Amino acid sequence: MPFAHIVGTGSAIPQRILSNADLERIVDTSDEWITRRTGIKERHVAMADNHESTADLGSRAARRAMEMAGITADLIDMIIVATVSPDRIFPSAGCMIQREIEANNAVAFDLSAGCSGFVYALEMANNSIKMGQSRNVLIIGAERLSSVTNWQDRSTCVLLGDGAGAVLLSSQEMAGGILSTHIKSDGRLWDLLYADKGNPPLPASLEGITTIPFHLKMEGNRLFKQAVPSMANIAEHALAQNGLRLEDIQLVIPHQANLRILQAVSERLTIPMEKFYTNLQKYGNTSAASIPLAMDEAFREGRIKRGNHVLLVSFGAGLTWGAAVLQWTI
Ligand code: COA
Repeated sequence: MPFAHIVGTGSAIPQRILSNADLERIVDTSDEWITRRTGIKERHVAMADNHESTADLGSRAARRAMEMAGITADLIDMIIVATVSPDRIFPSAGCMIQREIEANNAVAFDLSAGCSGFVYALEMANNSIKMGQSRNVLIIGAERLSSVTNWQDRSTCVLLGDGAGAVLLSSQEMAGGILSTHIKSDGRLWDLLYADKGNPPLPASLEGITTIPFHLKMEGNRLFKQAVPSMANIAEHALAQNGLRLEDIQLVIPHQANLRILQAVSERLTIPMEKFYTNLQKYGNTSAASIPLAMDEAFREGRIKRGNHVLLVSFGAGLTWGAAVLQWTI
């Protein structure tokens, strides 16, 4: 069976920065509160003039990943876009990106698994490559969470940001690359984090058909308590499956939700925080984009070297969570 190797990474961030000080002028909050409770200092917000739709950001990230890999768009067999904030209900962001990057030989679609979407997409891509169905698969996490944020709700609007990350996977005979993926969900708790968009409650009559504004609802405390053990347990399972010890991991790239969650996961796993890559200070929680965005920055900063074992771990709406173990080969 062939192995799926990461051969290119890319990311794209909107130009406009929204700092904690900017948010102090929008809702009753403070830089001190946001920093202490979340670790976030600023986030980026997509703007029309900068052409920063979900598909625009995803396309830019994808081009950078293809450039790094030296693989042209016509060689891409599959595009999976993990997103909870596509530009349209349909068609998929995947098909919009396919047109933008001219990957005309690919099959493209979206995958919705909250902040764990990238790890889910990695599993789909890995399986497709291992089965011999695809040679080159582009997986993209792209989000414009500012389009679904309730800017009057200080308990959620301070957490979220926009951005995109992309990874290009290629089939190779050489062992390594994606060593394993692990994904889980628990729909019993979907109402801890959800959004209504274009799906107003079932109307009692025709007169009840109205458009309601977007709502993102979150029970932060309960999510926090679910996130920590879920992430720690699935990470331990992923390492055990590969016969790896904690010290065999050179870098953990977690979903960038909140620094306190990551500190708690680090303690449970007894993997020191120095091995956790974080960039949530600059971008906030970019949902499905957060892991590929962090991976691209970590690699370009020299934090990941050829041969390193990298652990990905995620948690998000659904509830969903997941982990993956990679052996870096570029
Ligand atoms: N600025 C100032 N005060 C705020 C605030 C803000 N942005 N948001 C909430 N508060 C207030 C609350 O109103 C509350 O005030 P009260 O004590 O007078 O009622 C107080 O701060 C504490 O609120 P609480 O919700 O208990 O804070 P917390 O310590 O749990 O932190 C989160 C809130 C959201 C940061 C935290 O629960 C969290 O990180 N949860 C996980 C969320 C997450 O990452 N979700 C995505 C998963 S993928």
